[in-house]
Amino acid sequence: DSPLRDHAAQQGFEIGAALGVDHLQNDSQFADLAATEFNAATAENSMKWESTEPSRGQFDFSGADAFMDFAQQNNQKVRGHTLVWHSQLPSWVENGNFSPSELRSVMENHIDEVAGRYSGEVAYWDVANEIFLSDGSWRNSVFYETLGSDFVADALRMAADADPNAELWLNDYSIDGINAKSDAYYNLIQDLQAQGVPIDGIGLQAHLINGQVPGDLQQNIQRFADLGIKVAITELDVRIDMPASQSELEQQARDYRAVMDACMAVNGCVGVTVWGIVDQYSWVPDTFEGQGAPLLYNDNYQPKPAYDAVHEALGGQ
Ligand code: G3I
Repeated sequence: DSPLRDHAAQQGFEIGAALGVDHLQNDSQFADLAATEFNAATAENSMKWESTEPSRGQFDFSGADAFMDFAQQNNQKVRGHTLVWHSQLPSWVENGNFSPSELRSVMENHIDEVAGRYSGEVAYWDVANEIFLSDGSWRNSVFYETLGSDFVADALRMAADADPNAELWLNDYSIDGINAKSDAYYNLIQDLQAQGVPIDGIGLQAHLINGQVPGDLQQNIQRFADLGIKVAITELDVRIDMPASQSELEQQARDYRAVMDACMAVNGCVGVTVWGIVDQYSWVPDTFEGQGAPLLYNDNYQPKPAYDAVHEALGGQ
């Protein structure tokens, strides 16, 4: 049957994948799947601060350019990831001891250069990533410590100046269901809207544990859509205790299906992006000892039950 992207296109839906540039360049099976199956793409690492501005004012767009070339050649909608994030942040920023005005100008220059370079070519920017903790309080990043919560509004306005055509999004994990952390976003977005700050969408990363899709995922998506912004599932994976049994792989398929269905049921949920393509390259085993197999393809590049579930959710057979 036809690839995921063909079915998605018929539904006006985006099915994306995070793409590691090293894999695109060195693994033709990976690159083939990336091109064939997906109509949207996010750079897994190459647009992050440590990749694009490893030292102050010294920009390196080699990885980001290679990613953009691939996405454009393959007619994929691009999510820029990410402009302001506490992680994968070079130490010259994190430990720079900048004054508020200095840090603001460091941030502005970074956003100008990165979002400006790809102006008109990026559909969505994850402008600020992972700004809240699970209890809904602000994360103590260098940005929050130095600039206070205004750094988010500042970054959104700076991104709007750098790329007036991109949609400007916030993005986080563990905000898939209704909880203290997603409530914090819900409140922040209303505050931003009241202040006239540009905010176009919220990305629910959805790094999930097998069998634990939040029951109120669709309701949560709906409440953000009801604020007049878009929603997407931006980093979907479903991790399993290894080794994965057949019944766990079938549970995983049901989980993928539930996430697809929840997004597709809400007007304003524009698409689902999976955080990688083949299990062997996933970030999961490096981070969660004993867990893995979170993606749509196994280590032999064969589609798993989860692939079939996504395919069927999109209307394929
Ligand atoms: O590039 C170096 C390589 O030169 C070196 O030999 C190797 C040794 O460890 O490290 C390589 O860098 C790694 C990089 O990925 C590229 O593979 C880093 O160690 C590793 O920490 C980094 O992990 C990335 C992680 O973000 C960092 O926080 C993952 O690939 C990436 O999937 C992950 O993605 C994040 C999203 O951006 C935000 N949401 C959560 C998600 C999962 O953590």
